[in-house]
Amino acid sequence: MNHSEALQADTSNSDAQRSLLLKRLAQRFPADFVWGVATSAYQIEGAAHEDGRADSIWDEFCRRPGAIRDGSNGDRACDHYHRFEADLDLVASLGITSYRFSISWPRVQPLGRGAWNQAGFAFYERLLAGLQRRGIAAHITLYHWDLPLALQTQGGWANRATAEAFRDYALEVARRFGDRAASIATHNEPWVVAILGHELGTFAPGEKSRRVAMQVAHHLLLSHGLAVQALRSAGCKAPLGIVLNQAPIYPATESESDRFKARLEDGLLVRWYMDPLLFGRYPEDVLAHLGDDAPAVADGDLDIICQPLDFLGINYYTRNVAVTGQEKVESRPSRPVTDMGWEVFPGGLSELLSRLHRDYPLPPVYIMENGAAYKDHPVGGRVVDSERISYLESHIGALADAVDYGVEVHGYFVWSLLDNFEWADGYSKRFGIIYVDYETEGRTVKDSGFWYRDFLRSR
Ligand code: FCB
Repeated sequence: MNHSEALQADTSNSDAQRSLLLKRLAQRFPADFVWGVATSAYQIEGAAHEDGRADSIWDEFCRRPGAIRDGSNGDRACDHYHRFEADLDLVASLGITSYRFSISWPRVQPLGRGAWNQAGFAFYERLLAGLQRRGIAAHITLYHWDLPLALQTQGGWANRATAEAFRDYALEVARRFGDRAASIATHNEPWVVAILGHELGTFAPGEKSRRVAMQVAHHLLLSHGLAVQALRSAGCKAPLGIVLNQAPIYPATESESDRFKARLEDGLLVRWYMDPLLFGRYPEDVLAHLGDDAPAVADGDLDIICQPLDFLGINYYTRNVAVTGQEKVESRPSRPVTDMGWEVFPGGLSELLSRLHRDYPLPPVYIMENGAAYKDHPVGGRVVDSERISYLESHIGALADAVDYGVEVHGYFVWSLLDNFEWADGYSKRFGIIYVDYETEGRTVKDSGFWYRDFLRSR
């Protein structure tokens, strides 16, 4: 029985026993391990039409009837743009010393090219100053899906020129903030941008073409490489990396065809990104499978993509199961699922990490997102979210297993600080360790937030 199973099995745990188990869990990590919380700009900031910010592809996507489950948008979201000081007070009150957030490109460069918006940069100046005052490290993501709409009208990520525009944007952000960033990640989850945004069309910009999607994936990787190259030549001191969503993919049965399918889906989700980033090549089996849908790759692109990384960010939520004849890989709800319908499968995290460690020359790894949505309700000023606590605890336990296995993991960020705009699900899914009342914008720390505080204290 591992640590978290022991904790769950013994419901009669006294507080003293609980804190002993928490301490044991914490002690499985090195003392300098980074513990944080994560957010992204469009999901929390609001102020969508203030201080010179222009539309992103998500503002436009939200206007399409039926695109967002509850018909909502990020216009106000958590109103973090105006409430960030109080939000940072909450972060500090929980003893959290690392904060991951993204910069909204259309806030700082409304058209995605040309003029910079000083008022937009001023917001991030205030945010960084607020973090610094509270002793909280800033982990910056440059692109968490909110492409300036003006660039989309010129083809968006399907247009190679967007990769160059991204490099210029990255350079300007690094010039201003590079000395205050604990890390800079170029992209968050390029698979999601490419596949959900351009093949399945369930996310902005809502295109439905595999061929376009794979070209987009290539341009995202290219833009990562261009940005890393440019930032390094400009002398940027912040550690540079990229954040990928990954999952181990299990064949539904041991049949030849399910195993083939699982291998291919692994190629599309994991190897399509890892192989070019770390080996400078695309996986042969996936190229063969894509046929005419394979992207156009110019000479030298793969060398640009394959830049040394200071860190690799991984977002992990669940495993996938591959079933022959079924278009989409699904997580399999044979076990408890979260409110997203995603299977709770902590062992997938250790398995994924140990596999990556075996197959690739990994730089230090950060889990940049891990967390769960549940239907939370405040009752008498309290949000009892025991399922989220056990989700977090079991995944941190699985992460400790990966550390024991020898994977060089340097940090872990809970998704998310606040309940927020969950993309196509609107406000219907709550991932926060802090509850947000969208009527009043009031915040209530959930039990999981206090649990995280106690866990961090027990180190
Ligand atoms: C990830 C996203 C993040 C959030 C979580 C639930 O794919 O990076 O913004 O939506 O899923």
